[in-house]
Amino acid sequence: TKYQFIDVKKEEKVSIITMNRPKASNALCDRLIHEIVTQLKKCDRNPETNAIVLTGLHKVFAAGADVKEMEPRTFQGNFSTNFSSEWDEIAKTRKPLIAAVNGFALGGGCEIAMMCDIIIAGENSKFGHPEIKLGTFSGAGGTQRLTRAVGKAKAMEMLLTGELISAREAWQSGLVSRIVPDHDVVDIAIKIAAKIAANSQPMAMMAKECINQAYESTLQEGLEFERRMFQSTFAFYDREEGMKSFINKRDPEFKDA
Ligand code: HXC
Repeated sequence: TKYQFIDVKKEEKVSIITMNRPKASNALCDRLIHEIVTQLKKCDRNPETNAIVLTGLHKVFAAGADVKEMEPRTFQGNFSTNFSSEWDEIAKTRKPLIAAVNGFALGGGCEIAMMCDIIIAGENSKFGHPEIKLGTFSGAGGTQRLTRAVGKAKAMEMLLTGELISAREAWQSGLVSRIVPDHDVVDIAIKIAAKIAANSQPMAMMAKECINQAYESTLQEGLEFERRMFQSTFAFYDREEGMKSFINKRDPEFKDA
C-alpha cells in the first residue's frame, strides 16, 4: 500500500505507525485517518504482528481534525457520510495498541491517543480539547473517553475551557500510563510493545477484550465475561506451554496458538 501521510516499519513482532504530515502539524485529514485505519487492519490480519505503536512527530503527536478540510462541511454532508465514524475503527483494533506521544495531542489528536490501549507521554507533551474555541466540541470520543479516563470534574474543565494540560497532570489524572524523556518516548513504547509481543498473542488479545468489557457492562456481567474467557484459555497450546514451562523452571516458547 502506498501511503502519503504515514510511515510504517516493523521491529520483530512490533509494528510502528508514524503519522507524518509535518506541514499541517499532523492535522488529521480524512486521508490520514483512512491510512491509519487501513494499516491497523493490516496489522490485525498479520499473524507476525503482536503489538502496535502509533506515534507522531517530535513537536506534535497530532493537532486534531484538519480544520481547513472540516470548515466547509454541512450537517447534511456529515450525516450522509456519517462523519467521524471511520475514526472509531482505530478503537476497534484487536491487537494491543500503544500511543507514543510527543508534543501536542489536541482535539482529535487526543481522541485517537485515547483510542489506544496505553499512552506513553513525553515530559513536554500537552493534551487538550480546544474544539470549544472553534465553536464546536469533541466529536470522536472526547466527551466519553476523557470522562472515563480522568473523571467528570477534570473532563468538564478541559472540554469546556479548551485549556491544555501538561504531561504531569495527564499522568496524575490517569490519562497516560507514564512520563518519559521526550527523546525516549518511541523507544520506550516499542520496548513495552515488545514485552507484550513476547507473550502469547491470543492471550494478550483476549485480555484486551476483557479489560475493554469493563467499560461496557455491569461488574457482574464483566466478571462472567472474564470467567468464560479465562476458561477458554485452556483450549490453547500457549496456556499449557506457559504452565508447563513454569513447573519445569524454563522459559515458555509460545506459538501464538
Ligand atoms: C488544520 C492545522 C491544524 C489543524 C495546525 N495546522 N493545526 N491545519 N487543522 N487542526 C496547520 C497550521 O494552520 C499551519 O499551517 C501549520 O499547521 C503549522 O501550525 P502552526 O499553528 O503554525 O504551528 P505551531 O505554532 O507550532 O502550533 C502548533 C499547534 C497549533 C499548537 C498544534 O497549530 C494548534 O493549536 N492547532 C490547532 C489545534 C486545534 O484547534 N485542534 C482541534 C481541531 S478540531 P500554515 O499553512 O499556516 O503553515 C478537532 C475535532 C475532532 O480535532 C473531532 C473530529 C471528528
